[in-house]
Amino acid sequence: MYHLVIFASGNGSTLQSIIDSIDSHKLEAQIDLVVSDNSDAYCLERAKANNLETYIIQNTDFNKIDLELSNVLSKYSINLIVLAGFLKMIGPKLLESYTIINTHPSLLPKFGGKGMHGMHVHQAVIDAKEHYSGATIHFVNSEYDKGNIISQTTVEVLPTDTAETLSCKVQSAEKIQLIEVLQRFTRGEI
Ligand code: GAR
Repeated sequence: MYHLVIFASGNGSTLQSIIDSIDSHKLEAQIDLVVSDNSDAYCLERAKANNLETYIIQNTDFNKIDLELSNVLSKYSINLIVLAGFLKMIGPKLLESYTIINTHPSLLPKFGGKGMHGMHVHQAVIDAKEHYSGATIHFVNSEYDKGNIISQTTVEVLPTDTAETLSCKVQSAEKIQLIEVLQRFTRGEI
């Protein structure tokens, strides 16, 4: 079995789509743990509703979080860590021990970097009058949104789009793309 750990900070609709794909046997994997830095995040409710183990990060300091998570994750046999709307930087211990991917709601390298997450990204795309946006799945390294790109999907930005309507379009495309990428990981193709 292919073992996933999901890191999430917010709503967790991406986590939910992974859960649903596993339940419907589209994805041959299991989620061993859901990690969050936010004890109020709805992603934790989703995890509990699906009987998934959860872990809430205790520390706030970058290096202490890295050490804390290294200790926690050492108890698991992990094939892949997926950042699914996770807002913290990943530290060096985790980077050297695990394969980690992130999903980002823009066509990187555009609209990436610190502070660029969720609705901020979509508003920036609208403000820049871009004709296209999309989602990028990439390997995680020591810089925000700079790791090697695995896959990108494009959506059209219409003149009538708002950050909210664009977010809906990007998230729909992003979820399909992420499951396809995860399928490729489980088949050993990546
Ligand atoms: C997703 O669109 C993901 O790409 C984005 O947050 C959303 C999470 O939604 N991630 C980032 O912006 C990271 N820079 P969710 O909480 O409903 O899964």
